Amino acid sequence: MVAIDSKDSLYVENLLPENDIFYKKLENFAKENRVPILDKIGRAYLIQLLNIKNARNVLEIGTAIAYSTISFCENVGCKVVTIERDIKMYEQAQKNIQERNLQDKIVAIYGDALELDSRVVNNAPYDVVFIDGAKSQSRKFFELYEPYFADNVLVITDNVLFKGMVADPSIIKHSRDLKQLSRKINNYNEWLMANPNYTSVILPFGDGIAITTRKVKK
Ligand SMILES: C[S@@+](CC[C@H](N)C(=O)[O-])C[C@H]1O[C@@H](n2cnc3c(N)ncnc32)[C@H](O)[C@@H]1O
Repeated sequence: MVAIDSKDSLYVENLLPENDIFYKKLENFAKENRVPILDKIGRAYLIQLLNIKNARNVLEIGTAIAYSTISFCENVGCKVVTIERDIKMYEQAQKNIQERNLQDKIVAIYGDALELDSRVVNNAPYDVVFIDGAKSQSRKFFELYEPYFADNVLVITDNVLFKGMVADPSIIKHSRDLKQLSRKINNYNEWLMANPNYTSVILPFGDGIAITTRKVKK
């Protein structure tokens, strides 16, 4: 894995413009409550990607506190349909969405994303799908929501390298659960990269991000 040196990451992070106080508050909340959210470079990268794509309608699996949701909405101008199964996270997300007055741009769904919700169907098709839920379930999410992808869809899957544990499972000591998780993520990566209908690239920065587009006949 060509890991980006942490000094480089720090350097790049320091060059990013300061986030406003609202986002800093969410970052602090996430840190204090151990909520995994996009890191600053990942956030900036996805905002840039969504803007290049001119994203209009995004589906997100895994809202947490709506840090990525609100970031996309406010910095790209897209609508976001987002799903969260943890009630505490969902309630915190709702609070944050209300604080930014984004109720008409964000459809926040409380429920398990492994079950299809009518609001997801009614708001389809999606030109961007951000898969950021349980890491062992990425393929299930992909296959469940595939019928609701726009023709020109961009699918982003986060954490596909899982802190180096996918490329090198020998670094996992004494945890069968983590070993199993790293195997499942590897299975997803292999399936995604070999999928005849899509073209994907895995970027080895942050925790690993897979970027997928539909294959077009040339
Ligand atoms: C990495 S966090 C999401 C972070 C958020 N996208 C961000 O960057 O600000 C993953 C979230 O997905 C939720 N989650 C995991 N599996 C899920 C499922 N099957 N359905 C709905 N939510 C799920 C977890 O409860 C957790 O809050």
